[in-house]
Amino acid sequence: MPDAQATSTHDWNGDSGKRWAANLDRLDLMLQDFGDAAIVAAAAQPGEHILDIGCGSGTSTFMLADRVGPTGHVLGVDISRQLVELARAATPKAAPIEFHLADAATADFPAEGFDLLFSRFGVMFFDDPVAAFANMRAALKPGGRVAFVCWRSAAENDWVRLPMTAIRDIVQPAPADPDAPGPFAFGNLYRLTDILTTAGFADIEVRPFDTRLAYGRSDTRDAALDDALDMAFQVGPLSRALADQPDEVRARAAAAVRAVFATLPGDTSVLIDGAAWIVTARNRAA
Ligand SMILES: C[S@@+](CC[C@H](N)C(=O)[O-])C[C@H]1O[C@@H](n2cnc3c(N)ncnc32)[C@H](O)[C@@H]1O
Repeated sequence: MPDAQATSTHDWNGDSGKRWAANLDRLDLMLQDFGDAAIVAAAAQPGEHILDIGCGSGTSTFMLADRVGPTGHVLGVDISRQLVELARAATPKAAPIEFHLADAATADFPAEGFDLLFSRFGVMFFDDPVAAFANMRAALKPGGRVAFVCWRSAAENDWVRLPMTAIRDIVQPAPADPDAPGPFAFGNLYRLTDILTTAGFADIEVRPFDTRLAYGRSDTRDAALDDALDMAFQVGPLSRALADQPDEVRARAAAAVRAVFATLPGDTSVLIDGAAWIVTARNRAA
């Protein structure tokens, strides 16, 4: 499969991709427990062929490759050129791994080429999710599995809800469509199940996974609060809400968000509740 000239629908080749790449260590720490839970649910076996959707810099791809071993193979695809290049640069020689730059919604995957479709937070950005999942399903063997982790709603995720509430008297972002492509597009369980059913999946299981995630990191409590604040200003909904605001507004917002982070536990990170779905299903085609 050749690299596609990927077009970005959500800025993954622009600002979002750059910010994600600049915060890789923080994001890996934040997402680690969610990714681990999805990897367990995926139950990858030695020798399997796996497609890792929206693989970013490859953290989950490398974990899956360890599980399939030398007789298996993992193909990571991502729409962000910058993240695919980072993933390729980090790939050990002779590892059963490839990374392709591609839009998973339309990519020409080998038909029935994979035992498992996997994703760690990489499948919520499709403009037409039914068409995208149908395209990915065609790449699955009959009876093949899908396993992914995605966020529940923003209202259930304190790492978004608390900072956004803290700035509500300072900045009023336009109300977001909860179903619009973006991190929280699969928050609605019924919509998510409907998308997968319509795209041709069966045996769909969606289970909540809640944990306290580690937001930011440093050696002392004070420095950890600063690091968490810096991260919130660089990636995620708060960063987007404040992107075009004047310095004076950003300074007031920073003070409000730091104050709310200071109410949360954690010594070397700010520990905040996160809420995700762990989703598993099978290709209905027998
Ligand atoms: C929230 S990040 C997660 C990255 C990675 N899975 C991780 O956990 O670190 C979402 C990823 O999905 C990718 N992505 C978004 N839309 C995509 C699409 N249509 N096809 C392929 N990748 C896409 C983005 O470029 C980004 O790397």
